[in-house]
Amino acid sequence: MDWGMKNRMSRIIRPETGKTLMLAVDHGYFMGPTSGLEDLENTLLPLLPYADVLMPTRGGLRNCVPAETDIPIMLRVSSGTSILNETHLLHEGQSVSVEDAIRLNVAGVAFSILVGQPYERDTILGMSQVVDWGERYGIPVLAVTAVGKGLGKDARYLSLASRMAAELGARIVKTYYCEDFEKVVNSCPVPIVIAGGKKMPEMDAMQMAYDALQAGAIGVDMGRNIFQAENPAAMIQSVRAIVHQNYTPQEAMELLESLKNKSE
Ligand code: 5RP
Repeated sequence: MDWGMKNRMSRIIRPETGKTLMLAVDHGYFMGPTSGLEDLENTLLPLLPYADVLMPTRGGLRNCVPAETDIPIMLRVSSGTSILNETHLLHEGQSVSVEDAIRLNVAGVAFSILVGQPYERDTILGMSQVVDWGERYGIPVLAVTAVGKGLGKDARYLSLASRMAAELGARIVKTYYCEDFEKVVNSCPVPIVIAGGKKMPEMDAMQMAYDALQAGAIGVDMGRNIFQAENPAAMIQSVRAIVHQNYTPQEAMELLESLKNKSE
């Protein structure tokens, strides 16, 4: 790995713990003003001190994140369809140029591959091209896998999608948590972070993060379970304690309650 790639990877995965807490706020690129992110700037700014990496779109970054902010950026560079697409057939391609990603000083770029879906070939070839330029300039590609309906997101499917992403050159894989998650991690030669998915009770989200880390994930790339929480700042700090300080879900819940009480 050359110096630039190594340096960016160590900005994404914290060297002190080998873990990362990414805050995903890219939802607007296909969901519009997602609940909790209607006011992107005011929602995310208080959360930045607790995130290791921010995952925005380029519009979100330019318009809502001050350039003076010292946080590594995992830039969303794929898009192409919205949630209004009648059959919800996602079909994404590269939507940000290399030059713009470099101009935005990114630490990495995120691209969705839609394995097992009608447009999988386009997304696989699209990500491969992005991997080509990413490797040329020392920028890691994070493959987002398993977005979409009706995929049966079990260990078999997620192992297939994650392994494919790694074989295609992704340096990090984002996927969903499932039972037997060790199988997904053990068959994937690059680090895995889990997506949070739809909002769930806080305890469940913490248990999921904890179980994923126990199974070998190197962190979370969480969005809705943080910014849609009753107290997003308390939630991100509690998830952070699981990621970097090995808190159990119970300990993290206690921290959450005490942070909530303090802020009242
Ligand atoms: C789907 C995505 C997201 O837009 C987002 O990053 C998901 O985060 P969460 O599920 O935790 O809200 O990756 O393409």
